[in-house]
Amino acid sequence: MANGLDDVVAADTVLSDVDGAGGHLTIRGHSLTELAGHWRYGQVVRLLFDGFFDELPGDAELERAIGKARVEVFERLQPMLGQLAPLDIYSAMRAGIALLPDGEELADALRLVAAPTVLTPALLRLTRGEKPVAPDARAGHAADMLRMLGGPSSPALAKALDTYLVTVCDHGLNASTFATRVVASTQAGLASAILAGLGALKGPLHGGAPGPVIEMLDAIEASGDAAAWLSDEIARGERIMGFGHRIYRVRDPRADVLKAVVRRLGTRSETGSRLAFAETVEQAALEVLKVAKPQRSIQTNVEFYTALLLEAAGFPKEAFSNVFAAGRVAGWIAHAREQQATGRLIRPQSRYVGPVPDLVA
Ligand code: COA
Repeated sequence: MANGLDDVVAADTVLSDVDGAGGHLTIRGHSLTELAGHWRYGQVVRLLFDGFFDELPGDAELERAIGKARVEVFERLQPMLGQLAPLDIYSAMRAGIALLPDGEELADALRLVAAPTVLTPALLRLTRGEKPVAPDARAGHAADMLRMLGGPSSPALAKALDTYLVTVCDHGLNASTFATRVVASTQAGLASAILAGLGALKGPLHGGAPGPVIEMLDAIEASGDAAAWLSDEIARGERIMGFGHRIYRVRDPRADVLKAVVRRLGTRSETGSRLAFAETVEQAALEVLKVAKPQRSIQTNVEFYTALLLEAAGFPKEAFSNVFAAGRVAGWIAHAREQQATGRLIRPQSRYVGPVPDLVA
């Protein structure tokens, strides 16, 4: 039996399709390359939510409603932020989201879309001893996140972050989306379903990989020999972060989209030299993995260039998974609604392989 449910089809969805052999990602009838860099995150939220909520407004109105939801989340949760801030940044964000209403309406969904974008900068500022900055309802979603963070900000950086959020908005039945659908199938509220997704996303085999990618790049830079460092890791049975995927047997298409975004941020800047170094590490990793695991095609995944993009946007590596959640939350909500609409509880079976009780005659 495959413990990882490999190749098991557990849902019909109109939301996204991952073509692992061809290296294509389709999101509601659009290719990733059609959306990333061309559609704003708010527009993609609308695309994903379409048909799953009554009276969904048009793009501009929905983006304004997301802006208002950012302000509402900030006002609701501000009194609790001081208590959450000592937790690690991911747990603090999750705990904040657990304090939101567990309803089913569009307003509940928009609060959940807003929450990671609002909570992450506020919590980061508190841990640095700074006062949180309130959201601006009229700003773009990504631009407002950077503004609240208070680091470097520019239209180019806001566009880069927005493109990132679009790129990771949905991705088939990955572990966190499956967890979200399982909870949604019990007809629990949207916040409960999203909390399940957040739990699954945290692990390094899923959304927890980009922080360790930065640690790996720093360690390789210090060692001075990428191939030797990577070979040692493999020899010790470690996995190379940012490489490999359950579905893709070719390069993850999101990796190229994000790499192009990082490149556009400037070839002569600090980001440019970081990118050049990362490219040499990527080549070395692909060669080392080809030799060490010839039975498996292990290619670059989304997390490798996510790490560079979020570093350039001014996020510390501890907060990378929070930003991933800020993008993926829209996909989770749409999947939760799609699952609830089937009215069917997800309840598979296990095969008992434990000891059997003695039968007393
Ligand atoms: N580094 C080294 N070896 C890797 C690897 C990696 N990144 N990814 C897979 N492998 C190896 C496994 O060790 C295994 O080798 P073995 O047959 O000698 O035991 C083989 O490839 C098959 O691995 P398997 O565990 O069946 O693959 P999977 O489908 O479960 O892997 C991931 C998917 C994402 C969990 C895996 O590639 C991984 O751990 N990657 C690193 C973490 C990461 O980047 N996560 C973000 C994913 S978007």
